Amino acid sequence: MPKTVDIRGVKRRFPEKTGPLGGLTNDGASVLAVDGVSFALEEGEFCALIGPSGCGKSTLLRMVSGLDAPDEGSVEVASRGRGEIAYVFQDAHLLPWRSVAENVALPLELGGVSHAERDAAVLEALAQVELTDAANRYPRELSGGMRMRASIARALVTKPKLLLMDEPFAALDELTRQRLDERLFAIWKERKLTILFVTHAIFEATFLAERAIVFSKRPARVVYDQPITLDPENGARTSATRATPGFAREAAKLLSALEGGDT
Ligand SMILES: Nc1ncnc2c1ncn2[C@@H]1O[C@H](COP(=O)(O)OP(=O)(O)OP(=O)(O)O)[C@@H](O)[C@H]1O
Ligand SMILES: [Mg+2]
Repeated sequence: MPKTVDIRGVKRRFPEKTGPLGGLTNDGASVLAVDGVSFALEEGEFCALIGPSGCGKSTLLRMVSGLDAPDEGSVEVASRGRGEIAYVFQDAHLLPWRSVAENVALPLELGGVSHAERDAAVLEALAQVELTDAANRYPRELSGGMRMRASIARALVTKPKLLLMDEPFAALDELTRQRLDERLFAIWKERKLTILFVTHAIFEATFLAERAIVFSKRPARVVYDQPITLDPENGARTSATRATPGFAREAAKLLSALEGGDT
């Protein structure tokens, strides 16, 4: 299988203090955020990235997206073309003056895609997140879960090969979050795209991912990198999955890795 993402010996440090305008000061103090992280993702993998607050998860994701670059080491991504990488944040970041459909169409508009092609892709993306009926509504008229689904539709509309998600469901209530986890899993199965999913939530990671990487507390190092095996293997994920012994066993492994990396 070709590597979609290849991260080797990545280090990233930030200046400790910033000046009055956010610029760097000259005292040379720095914070090491990511310390020698290496892992690769194969095409079509769903990988969860877990770690203590402030350890460097978002920093790593930004380097994968190309928004930031490592100080040492390398980050290689197979597909860096327009629309091939999509990023979903904890906040839906919708434009309030645009309807749901217009928000979802935005990446295609920016990419100069024709009207007809745009409409078809928007409808498909909205259907996939079950938001077809809300196409003409505005962000203020949506629940938090619906806003997040619109944000995911906007990410999917360019048919990305790599989807980077940074705690996308962390602000939602538990039931909404579980429903979105189920929808996302189904989308991943249908589209066969590669997903790197940052979360604090062990149960969410266990439910969604085929593989979990756990970071230590800052500076981030990989303390655990193992497949998640649920029974039935590769089967559908439903709410019943969360009650299986395999689920509890896998979640316990992640918790102990997280505790181990936090000392
Ligand atoms: N642009 C920046 N300038 C200075 N410091 C930064 C910058 N980005 C991140 N940091 C620092 O790097 C460290 C890691 O931050 P990062 O946001 O990657 O953590 P995280 O694991 O995503 O945390 P959380 O779980 O709270 O989202 C933190 O100490 C943070 O303050
Ligand atoms: Mg973060």
